[in-house]
Amino acid sequence: MNNQQPLIAIIGATGATGKYVLQGALERGYAIRVLARTPEKLSHLKEKVEIVKGSVDDVEAVKQLFEGVTVIISTLGTNKKPNYIVEKGVQTMLQAIHRLKNKPRFIHMSAVGLGNSIQQCKNSWLWTFIVKVTFPLVGREIFADRAEQLIIADKHVKWVIARAAILDNKPSRGYITRLAHESTGKMFISRQDIAEFMLTCVGDTSFDEKAISLFSAT
Ligand SMILES: NC(=O)c1ccc[n+]([C@@H]2O[C@H](COP(=O)([O-])OP(=O)(O)OC[C@H]3O[C@@H](n4cnc5c(N)ncnc54)[C@H](OP(=O)(O)O)[C@@H]3O)[C@@H](O)[C@H]2O)c1
Repeated sequence: MNNQQPLIAIIGATGATGKYVLQGALERGYAIRVLARTPEKLSHLKEKVEIVKGSVDDVEAVKQLFEGVTVIISTLGTNKKPNYIVEKGVQTMLQAIHRLKNKPRFIHMSAVGLGNSIQQCKNSWLWTFIVKVTFPLVGREIFADRAEQLIIADKHVKWVIARAAILDNKPSRGYITRLAHESTGKMFISRQDIAEFMLTCVGDTSFDEKAISLFSAT
């Protein structure tokens, strides 16, 4: 690890998007600390990455994860009942940040369609279906727009909300950024590209205190 580089904490590094965040952070030479419920999933990286074992609803583990960190990137998520974790996890992360003297910036992955970005879904039948039909059934719990509300209401933490369009695993196609009142973009985005955006926010504070919708560039 290069100690001249910022120390960043990643939550969700074993997941489909988080693995790209981790890979990109390694390529940039950042010092990296991750939270993992199952550290064995990252055993091939144990020389390069500091691993804190634990669950995101354990405030002591999360505080340990955040000590001395400059930026937190969270790609937390689960669609497994009954422990939808995003809202609870965000609550715990904010609690842990409050307990630190030097508070890291917090980059949180969310979804287009949540909060005021619902207006960007109006012209897409697929999005309309997802937002109007799926969200009320399970989506709100999975994506946890209440997590966004907790972050936006927090006056002690500097944050970026990265709202992804529908995720795919195709190679990078670049991304465009939009505020909620701006025009919508393509329906999908590569996981690699949303990871790239969140990593850009490590050194670029121009998106702080903004919820940014991200769409594929091509
Ligand atoms: N599907 C879409 O089109 C879409 C669009 C926009 C946004 N999103 C949201 O984007 C986020 C990331 O998506 P993804 O597909 O990359 O998710 P994913 O592959 O399911 O990864 C979720 C990550 O969260 C971790 N995690 C779950 N519960 C945890 C806990 N209690 N403590 C610590 N870590 C925990 C998982 O770790 P383990 O390895 O331990 O399970 C995994 O690393 C999700 O919130 C998703 O809902 C999805």
